[in-house]
Amino acid sequence: MRLIIKNVSNLVTCAGKCIKKGKEQNNANIIENGYVVVKDDVIEDIGSGEGYVKFIEEDTILIDGNGKTVTPGLIDPHTHAVYSGSRENELPLKLNKVSYIDILKAGGGILSTVENTRRAEISDLFNESKKRLDTMLLHGTTTIESKSGYGLNFQDEVKILQVNKMLNQSHPIDVVSTYLGAHAVPPEFKEDREGYIDLMLNTVIPYVAENNLAEFIDCFLEEGVFNLDEAERILKRGREFGLKLKVHADEIVSIKGAELSGKLKATSAEHLVAISDTGIREMADNGVIAVLLPSTSFYLMLSRFAPGRKMITNNLAVALATDCNPGTSPTENLQNVMTYACFGMGLLPEEIINAVTINAAYAIGRGETIGSIEKGKKADITIFNAKNLNYLIYHFGVNAVYKVIKNGKIMVENRKVKEE
Ligand code: NIG
Ligand code: FE
Repeated sequence: MRLIIKNVSNLVTCAGKCIKKGKEQNNANIIENGYVVVKDDVIEDIGSGEGYVKFIEEDTILIDGNGKTVTPGLIDPHTHAVYSGSRENELPLKLNKVSYIDILKAGGGILSTVENTRRAEISDLFNESKKRLDTMLLHGTTTIESKSGYGLNFQDEVKILQVNKMLNQSHPIDVVSTYLGAHAVPPEFKEDREGYIDLMLNTVIPYVAENNLAEFIDCFLEEGVFNLDEAERILKRGREFGLKLKVHADEIVSIKGAELSGKLKATSAEHLVAISDTGIREMADNGVIAVLLPSTSFYLMLSRFAPGRKMITNNLAVALATDCNPGTSPTENLQNVMTYACFGMGLLPEEIINAVTINAAYAIGRGETIGSIEKGKKADITIFNAKNLNYLIYHFGVNAVYKVIKNGKIMVENRKVKEE
């Protein structure tokens, strides 16, 4: 079965067969008047002009790309999409300048979502999270990473990771699972943080790894949450059990999280608003990918963004993500994140699209199979109602999706997710 997108005004392939760093991050290999041929779930051919004609058969689906921008399916490499409830009650506190960490210390923030998530039956948690994935898909996202971290005990962390698995199996979006037990110290261990670390190191991590419930391990390394020494022990234990490493680093203040990600040769370090110059160097020297979350800076009212421009100049590969979570970034929309990266960090349109496709794919260990429109790659493609890439970033706050193709099938059309 073939599907062809023809006469595409701006075919943004993000091709290049490797991660995009430095000057190369500003090359998205755009083809004008392009076409893409999809056979079953794989990209069979790309090019410009009429080259697609020879592939047309009787049952071939033809889509006209005139006036459209076509990109690889967007990839969101940092989300906390599996949780129950919401936290709009924190709005007045935020406006009264109560800090994020102070809300957490008072038992609110992450811990209030933990209470709701623990109470939720697995089927309710699945349904609530599935709606978020539907919204993501409607906005052009075809693969996400999803972290646990709102259970913080054995059974509820496992419950969240099982929801990740159920979503991956049943939803069109592919879900890459991360264990983030080190998201906060749960209330029952308030006076015994070593006890909680012991539970993670000796019970949860071995179970999660042995049951293939996660591919990555992450740790919220931040003043007032987990410290450098604790983070190193937790991450190294994950690695012993075959998990790959991610770090929530330097989100609010720098306690050398970026440096640790370099030392441990993590796949990625994420947030990085307060990163130091040494941190940038350590990450670049060790090939750690920077996953930046500009909507979180905006929502935490930090008045600054991660230094994305400086990172690119220093040869770091930059990816972008929503951080979709109920406290610091309640959004599923990666298109808005692209606009924030442009106006908040000064990133250029081609740097930005590479950051939400090919570099995001590498940040979740999928760079060989998704993230670019290249022959042989999986047919995950988003078609936008935008005459060019600049327009997509410029006209913001709206959903520009025209159609989403996942695994070679049209899964979003007329602003609806197709029922399978
Ligand atoms: O990435 N920083 C820690 N975790 C999330 C927020 C989680 C929450 O507030 O519920 C983040 O910002
Ligand atoms: Fe996060």
